[in-house]
Amino acid sequence: MAITGASGIVYGKRLLEELKIRKIETHLIVSEAAEKVIEHELELSKKDLEKLADRVYDADELTSPLMSGSFKTDGMVIIPCSMKTLAGVAHGFADNLILRAADVALKEKRRLVVVPRETPLNTIHLRNMLSAAELGVFVVPAMPAFYHKPKKIDDLVDFVVGRVLDCFDIEHKLFKRYSGMKPRG
Ligand SMILES: Cc1cc2nc3c(=O)[nH]c(=O)nc-3n(C[C@H](O)[C@H](O)[C@H](O)COP(=O)(O)O)c2cc1C
Repeated sequence: MAITGASGIVYGKRLLEELKIRKIETHLIVSEAAEKVIEHELELSKKDLEKLADRVYDADELTSPLMSGSFKTDGMVIIPCSMKTLAGVAHGFADNLILRAADVALKEKRRLVVVPRETPLNTIHLRNMLSAAELGVFVVPAMPAFYHKPKKIDDLVDFVVGRVLDCFDIEHKLFKRYSGMKPRG
């Protein structure tokens, strides 16, 4: 799992919490930019966030096992995913551990989920999302729905995190699934 410097660090935090509850082993990389956004958005230090993961690495830690496809994983989630990191994923520009781990997930045909966050989107962002989707990446924008009748911000966050868990076929009850509209009359 990687947390990059886009707004919405809370999505990454919630995903880590949900994976911990399920005793799913997590290897976390927090980018340098994400450190700044963590400070800004959460009353939490990078260290506290990292406590939720089983193993942590710096983004410049190029000797990490995540550099190699021979290290087995079930896949990777980049949440939230900055437009910069999205660009790197879409173009195989593996100049840090986050991008190399994503490159490895692609070459090993493992599940790779990105949760991009930006608005409005420019043509480059849209092209990079298309390229990523064409490579088989699950593009799950931080774009909560409202059909589950959210009451608080946590409900919006849980919707996005739940959709990420769906990509890995991990059971959850983070939101009420849409089951059709009530019949009229
Ligand atoms: C408070 C704050 C919020 C930001 N929000 C976003 C964002 O939502 N999306 C985005 O693509 N970049 C955002 N950025 C800019 C990225 O952090 C910046 O492009 C950085 O180089 C991304 O690097 P990384 O992908 O290695 O984390 C934000 C920066 C700051 C300081």
